[in-house]
Amino acid sequence: MSRARRTGWIVVVAAGAAFVAWQAQAQQAAPAKAPAPAAAAGAKAAAGAKPAAGLDGAALYKEKTCVACHGKDAKTPLLPEYPKLAGQNEAYLVRQIQDIKSGARNHGNTAAMQGVLHLVNDDEIKAISAYLAGLK
Ligand code: HEC
Repeated sequence: MSRARRTGWIVVVAAGAAFVAWQAQAQQAAPAKAPAPAAAAGAKAAAGAKPAAGLDGAALYKEKTCVACHGKDAKTPLLPEYPKLAGQNEAYLVRQIQDIKSGARNHGNTAAMQGVLHLVNDDEIKAISAYLAGLK
């Protein structure tokens, strides 16, 4: 093995070890009760922008497609009949999303949204609702 080659290997091994150490640290920093589906959000949170609840409502709002129908600012919906969500009460938002998901709320346009709600679990619904409630 040439000297340059050996040096190259040492660099690769060192980088690998650093990555493993970083991963272990990131895992420790992640909130203990974060659910498995939130792994991506958890990893992102551990990387620096960790909100108190451990889930990033703003990111979830985009990732879970809510943004497509309710608008970037949550008050310019795709269709005029679709609701504005920005600034709405958090508890009310949680209840409505859960009711739409379960089918308890079911009329007119509800079906449009129901189709995406398998994408969010209870913790994610709460995180998104908290984010929406905080918008002006
Ligand atoms: C395909 C379009 C669509 C998507 C995607 C969508 N929604 Fe909706 N959403 C609607 C429509 C339409 C309604 C109104 C339903 C009705 O009239 O009952 C609604 C209603 C709501 C309500 C109730 C508002 C109120 O004032 O009662 C909340 C909260 C809400 N959506 C949040 C979300 C969140 C969070 C997501 C992402 C996980 C999401 N929506 C994804 C179309 C959508």
